[in-house]
Amino acid sequence: MKTQVAIIGAGPSGLLLGALLHRAGIDNIILERQSGEYVLGRIRAGILEQVTVDLLHEAGVGDGVSQEGTVHHAIELVFKNQRHPIDVTHLTGGKVVTAYGQTEVTRDLMSHRAAQGLPTVYEAKDVALHGFDGASPYVTYEKDGQSHRVDCRFIAGCDGFHGVSRASVPEGAITEYEKVYPFGWLGVLADVPPVSPHAIVYANSERGFALCSMRSMTRSRYYVQCPLSDTVDAWSDQRFWDELRLRLDPDLSSRIVTGPSIEKSIAPLRSFVAEPMRFGSLFLAGDASHIVPPTGAKGLNLAATDVKYLSQSFIEYFNDKTDAGIDTYSERCLRRIWRAERFSWWLTSLMHRFPDTQGFGQKIQEAELDYLVNSEALSRSLAENYVGLPLNFAE
Ligand code: APR
Ligand code: PHB
Repeated sequence: MKTQVAIIGAGPSGLLLGALLHRAGIDNIILERQSGEYVLGRIRAGILEQVTVDLLHEAGVGDGVSQEGTVHHAIELVFKNQRHPIDVTHLTGGKVVTAYGQTEVTRDLMSHRAAQGLPTVYEAKDVALHGFDGASPYVTYEKDGQSHRVDCRFIAGCDGFHGVSRASVPEGAITEYEKVYPFGWLGVLADVPPVSPHAIVYANSERGFALCSMRSMTRSRYYVQCPLSDTVDAWSDQRFWDELRLRLDPDLSSRIVTGPSIEKSIAPLRSFVAEPMRFGSLFLAGDASHIVPPTGAKGLNLAATDVKYLSQSFIEYFNDKTDAGIDTYSERCLRRIWRAERFSWWLTSLMHRFPDTQGFGQKIQEAELDYLVNSEALSRSLAENYVGLPLNFAE
């Protein structure tokens, strides 16, 4: 087989890249290790920046988010048992975020790709990358007991944190920066109306962090910080709802509607960046090159902007015959990525209970939160970062 761009991974990054390239007349094939059903079974984040919503429209898959997404103008910070709304739209001169699940984004992109008849190989085993130090790379894989080879001009590594693309880069060519946090998030999805349908709630409490989010007016997504050693089996639905209530203020707590969980999982928190993002004819995008803790809701949005820059760079290469985009891809992405890394690390540090800082750490967090909600300058800084930087930010 021959194509212009071989894309590894059919998560949001790979699928969005495929859609944007196809619209510009650039051939691509996606190779995905798992089945389509497995990919759709993963429940992940759910807050889209306007830049991401615009990109979905540009890719031709904006109907779902337009019809089913919920626009938010505010977030709420809870600390010392009190609620403090932050009017994000007012503070950013009109910007909003949209609640729409990553699972739904992936589903929309998958069905669009299928409807257009574009090639995606699911359950591709032993994907291997070859010759990306030159201009004629190729990818091999196994499917149904047979070996296959895809020749291409570029390989896009969109295969997530545990993928083969980053792992294929020679050790000396890549630098990794990492911070692992000493706790995880226990997430529950339930078909109950969200306690706060107009603002995502971030709660700091002495018992640990909690988050109230939503997927629709009838489906809620809630999280509580938990020890990394915990297992899902230790958390009955009842224990989860009781703990969530204890971490919120009395008003929200009394209004939580509970119900059976339809998904429950524990995720570790990590900050990670691998630099650079280009190695000859191989380009990394999304979780393959960076991870943020979910507190700032930046993971999916960063993946989308990487893909925007990468698709533009490939389009300029094939259609305008210039290397300028591919040559600056890594640098342009990394500036935005480090801004989001800083924000996500900061909000994570502010909102969680750290095992080593105890009462002093809690008091310092409460003082900073008090400063934050009472200072327009600090609230604006939070709001600006939360809605996301523009694609071509200057300062
Ligand atoms: N060969 C082929 N496919 C692979 C391989 C491999 N060796 N390894 C991993 N994959 C696939 C995974 O099965 C997955 O479907 O690559 C895909 C990567 O998808 P994601 O992990 O969702 O990464 P990405 O598309 O970059 O999306 C970023 O996902 O984790 C969230 O917070 C993150 O929201 C962000 C988004
Ligand atoms: C979610 O809806 O899953 C969600 C929302 C906000 C976050 C993280 C996750 O910061």
